[in-house]
Amino acid sequence: MGDGRQAAQARATVLVTGGAGYIGSHTVLALLQAGWPVLVLDNLCNASAESLRRVERIAGRPAPLVVGDIRDEALLDDLLARHQIGSVLHFAGLKAVGESVARPLDYYANNVAGTGVLLRCLGRAGVRRFVFSSSATVYGDPETVPLHEEARTGPTNPYGRSKWMVEMMLEDLAAAEPDWAVGILRYFNPVGAHESGLIGEDPAGIPNNLMPFVAQVAVGRREHLGVFGGDWPTADGTGVRDYIHVVDLARGHLAALERVHAHAGAFTVNLGTGKGFSVLEMVHAFERASGRPVPYRVVERRAGDIAECWADPRRALELLGWRAELGIERMCEDAWRWQSRNPDGYRGATAPG
Ligand code: NAD
Ligand code: WQD
Repeated sequence: MGDGRQAAQARATVLVTGGAGYIGSHTVLALLQAGWPVLVLDNLCNASAESLRRVERIAGRPAPLVVGDIRDEALLDDLLARHQIGSVLHFAGLKAVGESVARPLDYYANNVAGTGVLLRCLGRAGVRRFVFSSSATVYGDPETVPLHEEARTGPTNPYGRSKWMVEMMLEDLAAAEPDWAVGILRYFNPVGAHESGLIGEDPAGIPNNLMPFVAQVAVGRREHLGVFGGDWPTADGTGVRDYIHVVDLARGHLAALERVHAHAGAFTVNLGTGKGFSVLEMVHAFERASGRPVPYRVVERRAGDIAECWADPRRALELLGWRAELGIERMCEDAWRWQSRNPDGYRGATAPG
């Protein structure tokens, strides 16, 4: 495609649901930089519009936002009538495992029923290229690692089941209506931030996930990290995961988008690095990257956790020509740049210079 401007003229707009969020904002930036025009639909229930203002600043191109809900059928019909949408990247959804156990109906309504509304509106409007944010959580407790896409699925919490249900809905739809092109992307553990330090992960309240918690300890917002279990059957006794840099993940979406523009039918791929790192390895990598200590205490295991999980990433390479390139050092350096320049996330308001 070469020149981004030329490509933008030739390409229809990509609708990015949840595009103001963590992974969505990084992907919107990658899309703009690759010459794709975008339109973001986000209800801002877990994001700030400031993320997109910063994306525009980095890309030097507009990232227009419609503040609205994927469950609002009238709004979607209107949006699809007004804009020439060629494809959809569907990030919008709720994602906190613990909250999903406490409020399952919110998860089924937002993630499952919401995706149903979106798909129905898209089908009516003739927009049938669709990429879905699924999760390695659909594998549940793995029988063996690395996890291949054909491994047994069976999530263990309502959030995971909501992702699994959407996967099945999409496969059924692609089987019933062969002109749909559907990509199901199973992310492993997305971390890190764009190298500019302008956009990154900005969780509300106490972070549920390891790396934002570690970053907040390093910056002094929290006293110490609780390590959930030191007696797992792993090399150092702490949990092992496949951490993937969010910028690599964003590139994976570009590759998936090219594929749904070229081929009908459904595909499912893991997006991971194929390598596992323990909690303590990540803590030490973060200490090196930040030059700050990250005090920790080993505490009880967290309910529902598993010992280890990492991807077999070969299908993504075969099908999409994509592989992760950035290692844990870059993940930690970039997360630290974001955290140290924006200690209160987007709530700090003015963008750092
Ligand atoms: P995020 O919360 O930062 O982004 C989700 C965005 O969707 C938010 O901006 C939120 O405001 C928006 N949203 C939620 N419900 C909506 C609705 N009904 N209508 C419109 N907008 C809505 O989360 P993220 O980490 O960027 O995750 C993006 C997607 O990737 C989610 O679907 C998530 O389940 C999936 N995923 C995330 C991870 C992870 O660890 N971050 C791992 C695997 C899969
Ligand atoms: C990683 C490791 C913890 C926090 C979750 C979701 C999954 C997906 C990615 C969306 C584990 C340990 C964590 C802390 C700790 N999200 N940990 N202290 O659990 O692999 O996956 O996010 O789809 O669905 O379940 O990620 O970052 O929470 O935990 O010791 O304060 O860090 O036990 O070993 P997880 P995580």
